[in-house]
Amino acid sequence: MLLGVLFVGISNYFAVTAVPYIRLTIDYLKTVKEQGISTEESYHQLLIYGLYMLGYALLSGFFLFLMRQTIIVMSRLIEYDLKNEMYAHYQKLDTAFYKRNNTGDMMNRISEDVGRVRMYIGPAIMYIFNTSFLFMFTITEMISVDIKLTLFVLIPLPLLAVSIYYVSNTINKKSTKVQEQLSGITTHTQEAFSGIRVLKAFGRESKSITDFEKQSNSYKNLTMGLIKVESLFQPFMILLIGLSTLFTIYIGGMQAIEGKITYGNIAEFIVYVNRLTWPIASLGWVTSLIQRAAASQTRINEFLHTTPEIISQTAPTEAIKGDIEFKNVTFVYPDSGIKALSNVSFTLPKGKTLAILGRTGSGKSTLANLICRLYDVDSGEILIDGKNIKNIPIAALRSQIGYAPQEVILFSDTITHNIAFSIDEEIQKEDTIIQAAKDAAIYANIMSFKDQFETIVGERGITLSGGQKQRISIARAIIKQPQIMIFDDCLSAVDTETEEEILSNLKKVMRGKTSLIISHRISTVKNSDNIIVIDKGEIVETGSHQQLIEKQGAYFELHKMQLLEEEVR
Ligand SMILES: Nc1ncnc2c1ncn2[C@@H]1O[C@H](COP(=O)(O)OP(=O)(O)O)[C@@H](O)[C@H]1O
Ligand SMILES: [Mg+2]
Repeated sequence: MLLGVLFVGISNYFAVTAVPYIRLTIDYLKTVKEQGISTEESYHQLLIYGLYMLGYALLSGFFLFLMRQTIIVMSRLIEYDLKNEMYAHYQKLDTAFYKRNNTGDMMNRISEDVGRVRMYIGPAIMYIFNTSFLFMFTITEMISVDIKLTLFVLIPLPLLAVSIYYVSNTINKKSTKVQEQLSGITTHTQEAFSGIRVLKAFGRESKSITDFEKQSNSYKNLTMGLIKVESLFQPFMILLIGLSTLFTIYIGGMQAIEGKITYGNIAEFIVYVNRLTWPIASLGWVTSLIQRAAASQTRINEFLHTTPEIISQTAPTEAIKGDIEFKNVTFVYPDSGIKALSNVSFTLPKGKTLAILGRTGSGKSTLANLICRLYDVDSGEILIDGKNIKNIPIAALRSQIGYAPQEVILFSDTITHNIAFSIDEEIQKEDTIIQAAKDAAIYANIMSFKDQFETIVGERGITLSGGQKQRISIARAIIKQPQIMIFDDCLSAVDTETEEEILSNLKKVMRGKTSLIISHRISTVKNSDNIIVIDKGEIVETGSHQQLIEKQGAYFELHKMQLLEEEVR
């Protein structure tokens, strides 16, 4: 930036130095007539003046180039740093933060707000220095010619700056509204496209069209308003410049008649005034840029100063073995106030399989979230290898957990990359990926696709069935061979036969590892070492399949009902 400031100064110095040659030229023309200088000699002299002006203009232009190369480049580099810093910070924040803030807002801060801050550190700073230097050099030159004329021609300029400030403020306000409306349209369109199947199935196309029309219409009206202000802007500027020029000629003319200044001075002044107009007007624009940047920076800081509530220990730890224990765990979701778990206690020894069975909303997924430490418990504690999980570094903990969440998320990438997502690129091996796919009983499906493992899935790729997605998610969880595996209802969309196959494969994979299987289906859980039945966040029964059947309680009832369902099918 310091270099940039230097270049701004040099560039303006040369730009201003060139102007007196206009005066020299015009005054020389007068003397040519008066003193009868020969045509040849006068051509020669004019050429020299012209070359001087060209030379200064070239020099000024060259430093102008360097100025942009330093200051604007600096602002882009800062933008780059700021974006990366924010993205890295986003990654540190906990899930509760993501519940509180919507995606659009987070994306806006990283793109729009950063963009506005960049407008300040780049163009705004550049124009401030540019105007200051130009003003300094030009005013010195002008005053050396005539103070009175200088004062008169400068009168319209502050007026210009203030009005530009108001106009740019109005333009900014209006364009913010336009921007908001545009993102409204984007959201609407995006939802209409991604939900197109529901939309068509319910025959709501015409409603979707009218909704879109409404949104477009309000966007159109807003842009019309913006254009009105924008179209006034330029004529207004030209008018004010014209006024300044008029002043110069009128007052300068009177001074010239009195013999105080020459015709050349008038010409010189017209150039000065025209040169000064835009930089001074830009002060108004720059002020509104700075205000916007300040507001944006405040918003950015709000996020950058948010600290994750879940704090990782930095203490070194031994490798996790996989004993899990819940001691009187109670958990209330901070945003909804829903008590999802109350007083839950159980132990899951290393190498064993525990199943959690319960109806929707009974708190099963919450339990899995707590083991991954996506949230911290309110009371009670979760111990892993006898140690409170709050004392285990989060990275160490999560690297030893293979988690297949209830809601499957696939990235717009190849199947290979989706499965190998949990392991680092350098240690990915083809056979481990294939083995994971086989264990998750998805291998045959993958091989039937045209591009096989290179098939792109996710939003723009081929659409997988719910069960296929779940199996890819399982492959992703088991490929890293973690000590603890959590399968959250991830066989719900898989038919019972495939489920059998996967479960028997998993038995091999899970040998010696601790696993937690969450389901609402008896068939999924019946072979587990231990089964916990939960309801409304509380444990109602525990035992093996056999024990629970003999108990003839809630599990037994559920079993009976699901057997009936099977028969009906
Ligand atoms: N992120 C969340 N924020 C607030 N409440 C939640 C959240 N996730 C789940 N809940 C609530 O907690 C309860 C337990 O949910 P969950 O653990 O997902 O049940 P399950 O997995 O057994 O269907 C439900 O009443 C649900 O509405
Ligand atoms: Mg769930």
